[in-house]
Amino acid sequence: MQPECVLLFCTCISVFLHHTISQPPTETDTYTECTDGYHWDPQTQHCEDINECETITEACKGEMKCFNHYGGYLCLPRSASVIPASDPPNPIHPGLENTVSEPFNSCPSGFEPQGDSCVDVDECERGAHDCQPSQQCFNTEGSFTCQCPDGYRKVGTECIDIDECRYRYCQHRCVNVPGSFSCQCEPGFQLAANNRSCIDVDECGMGAPCSQRCYNTYGTFLCRCEQGYELGPDGFACNDIDECSYSSYLCQYQCVNEHGKFSCICPDGYQLLGTRLCQDINECETGTQECSDGQTCVNIHGGHKCVNSKSCQEPYVQASNNRCMCPVTKPGCEDLPFSIVHRYMSITSERSVPSDIFQIQATSIYPGAYNTFHIRTGDDNRDFYIRQINNISAMLVLARAVNGPREYVLDLEMVSINPLMNYHTSSALRLTIYVGPYAF
Ligand SMILES: *[C@@H]1O[C@H](CO)[C@@H](O)[C@H](O)[C@H]1NC(C)=O
Ligand SMILES: *[C@@H]1O[C@H](CO)[C@@H](O)[C@H](O)[C@H]1NC(C)=O
Repeated sequence: MQPECVLLFCTCISVFLHHTISQPPTETDTYTECTDGYHWDPQTQHCEDINECETITEACKGEMKCFNHYGGYLCLPRSASVIPASDPPNPIHPGLENTVSEPFNSCPSGFEPQGDSCVDVDECERGAHDCQPSQQCFNTEGSFTCQCPDGYRKVGTECIDIDECRYRYCQHRCVNVPGSFSCQCEPGFQLAANNRSCIDVDECGMGAPCSQRCYNTYGTFLCRCEQGYELGPDGFACNDIDECSYSSYLCQYQCVNEHGKFSCICPDGYQLLGTRLCQDINECETGTQECSDGQTCVNIHGGHKCVNSKSCQEPYVQASNNRCMCPVTKPGCEDLPFSIVHRYMSITSERSVPSDIFQIQATSIYPGAYNTFHIRTGDDNRDFYIRQINNISAMLVLARAVNGPREYVLDLEMVSINPLMNYHTSSALRLTIYVGPYAF
């Protein structure tokens, strides 16, 4: 029997114990010689087991514990548990079972028994490791290792974060985080699929806040406006341009600002000519007037007048429409023009002066006669004067700038003198001048 013979595996121990314990405790008395581990007891006439744990000094070395059994002894670790064969329990030697009560692990370090075999202990899972908090525990067969997680490196026993930004390539910006890093892009760019490069963002396609036109550019975008709008101070909004405030000459009469444009309007009695000019509507021609029979429609700037065709006043008598006569034979006609013809005209306000406005011409020419023209009545302010052109015609000239609405009734007299025949006659043109309210 070798004292160093230590049986480590429980299964073997069981088998061994089973065999040894099932061996008869005593040899039959017919022999005087006993097998190893037994001695002859002459008193009982039997071979008795030797308790080697008592008879051999230092039967087990070191930390080993000695267990006596029949025919030999065992050296087992102090923490070992001996699980003896349970069938049948030996009634004679129950002490062996009782004295080895603590569990006996016969598995190597890092393993533990499970059923009939030893299995690896996961020290990491059990917390039975001495890894630093910064380290990661990795279980191995029979043991474990402490390693630094990805992105860390071991300095002494500690794991220190690696500053990947010093080594890795990011197109724009690199941000180191514990155990890792990330690339970031400037505003207007987004990270490409490789997580390193930055690609331009099409802000226009992603709801850029341009109120009208959007143009994507590298890293940003631009807002632009339709014609008639201007970009607001925020760079996004398009504000309507008030074209009317730019110039007072955009429209002849009045400018109306609209969204993105402007338009011109004209006063009553006018219509738009093109885009900015106002043209008088001839109500006498359009048929919108309601002059009665016996009236003549006179178109004036911005409207019309209905004048009586027959308006001769005593002592004049009606000769024809708009023409009155004062026969020389009739009392009261001696000093009056022989005839009065009614004429109507309309002029605009603010005409530049002097301005020729009406030409008078004698209708009948007598050889040797000459005619003179003058304003007989109606020009108290001297707003007009007559310029004689020759001895049969003259021009009525506006002398001052006048503003309407206003109305003049001028009697323009032509005096015809024929010295040869000692003939003297006078006729008049009653000219009604309407001055419109506008310069157009
Ligand atoms: C980029 O990062 C995302 C999210 O972190 C990841 O799912 C993807 O695999 C990465 N792509 C590459 C090419 O590294
Ligand atoms: C008036 O004019 C006519 C034709 O021009 C001319 O023959 C006549 O002599 C003129 N009379 C006077 C008085 O100048």
